[in-house]
This record gives sequence, structure tokens and C-alpha cells, in this order.
Amino acid sequence: MGRVATSATHLFFLGILLMSFKRLDAAIEPCPASCRCTLEILNCSRTANPPGLHRVPIPEPFGHPYVFVLLDFTENAISSIGKQVWRAYPWTEYLILKNNHLSGLSNKSLDGLLSLTHLDVSCNQIQTIDRNAFEPVPFLQFINLSGNLIERITQGAFQAWHGMQFLFKL
Ligand SMILES: *[C@@H]1O[C@H](CO)[C@@H](O)[C@H](O)[C@H]1NC(C)=O
Ligand SMILES: *[C@@H]1O[C@H](CO)[C@@H](O)[C@H](O)[C@H]1NC(C)=O
Ligand SMILES: *[C@@H]1O[C@H](CO)[C@@H](O)[C@H](O)[C@H]1NC(C)=O
Repeated sequence: MGRVATSATHLFFLGILLMSFKRLDAAIEPCPASCRCTLEILNCSRTANPPGLHRVPIPEPFGHPYVFVLLDFTENAISSIGKQVWRAYPWTEYLILKNNHLSGLSNKSLDGLLSLTHLDVSCNQIQTIDRNAFEPVPFLQFINLSGNLIERITQGAFQAWHGMQFLFKL
């Protein structure tokens, strides 16, 4: 009798264990379609996705285990950044938007990227950088603007960010 009870207990715990694995599986789904996710990296660089992304995908904000520190959107067709998309990525330190179709940086482009330190917007068609464009990213240290069409940087765009190293190639 005691043995039966013990087995039943084991089965019970095994059941719980399996159920929690299943739940973990379900929780890993929010990796946006056509991107590859590890715990800290969201990789949407265009490889197996020929048409390319036109906008930044937004994962479920909660209920998944990801803490994306690095976002890679290399070689897509992102031409504008939707309002508040970055709110879903508050831990991002590295943002790679190399080889996209951005035409400018406004004071909303980086809104919500509170932890950002490195920004690669090289090889876009950026012509203008608005005043206060970098206000939302107080910890930004590096920006790569190489390979753009910069005509105008509004006075004050870079104001107050000491220590940022500019990697311009105009
Ligand atoms: C993203 O994936 C591409 C293709 O697999 C790879 O070349 C690139 O290094 C990856 N980016 C990161 C940050 O891991
Ligand atoms: C952002 O720019 C717009 C117009 O370009 C301006 O109306 C708005 O006040 C600016 N917002 C901030 C926070 O500077
Ligand atoms: C800046 O971007 C260009 C083009 O993507 C790249 O060749 C260069 O190595 C980058 N510079 C740095 C310092 O990372």
C-alpha cells in the first residue's frame, strides 16, 4: 500500500514537472516571426526572410523569458520607426539597424531605448537628424552613421552628450 502511494506521489510530481515544461514551451513562442531569439538576442537580420521587415516587430511585452540586450535588424526594409515600438525593448544596449531604409532620426526614433549604449544606423538614407533626437537615450556612447546622406543636423541634436564617440563618414 505504501509503495503504491509512493509511486502515485512520484507520478504526481512527474506530472507537475511535465506541465511546467509545457508551460515553458508555450512561453517561448513570442519570438517574432522570421526572427531568431536567444535569451538576450533578437536577431531579425535578413537571412531566411527575403522580403525583409518593413517595421520593427513588437513581441509580447510580458510572459516570456527574453531580456533582449541586443537587437539585430541588419538588411531589412525598415523605413520608419513606429510610435512607442521600443517600449517593448527596455533592456536593449545594442541596436543594429544597418542597411535599412531610414531617412531621418527624429526625437521619436529612439524613444523608449533607455539602456541604449551602441547604435548602428550605417548604410541607410538618413538625411536629417532632428533636434533632441538623442534625448531619449542618455547612455548612448557610440553611433555609426557611416554610409548615409546626411545634409542637415539640427543644432542641438547632439547637445549634452559628452563622451559619445562619433563615427561619421559624411
Ligand atoms: C544574426 O544572424 C546572422 C545570420 O545568421 C549572423 O550573421 C549575425 O551575426 C547574427 N547577429 C548577432 C548579433 O548574433
Ligand atoms: C519633437 O519634435 C516635434 C516637432 O519636430 C516637437 O513638436 C516636439 O515638441 C518634440 N518633442 C520633444 C520631446 O522634443
Ligand atoms: C560603421 O559602419 C560601416 C558600414 O556598416 C562599417 O564598415 C564600419 O566598420 C563601422 N565602423 C565601426 C567603427 O564600427
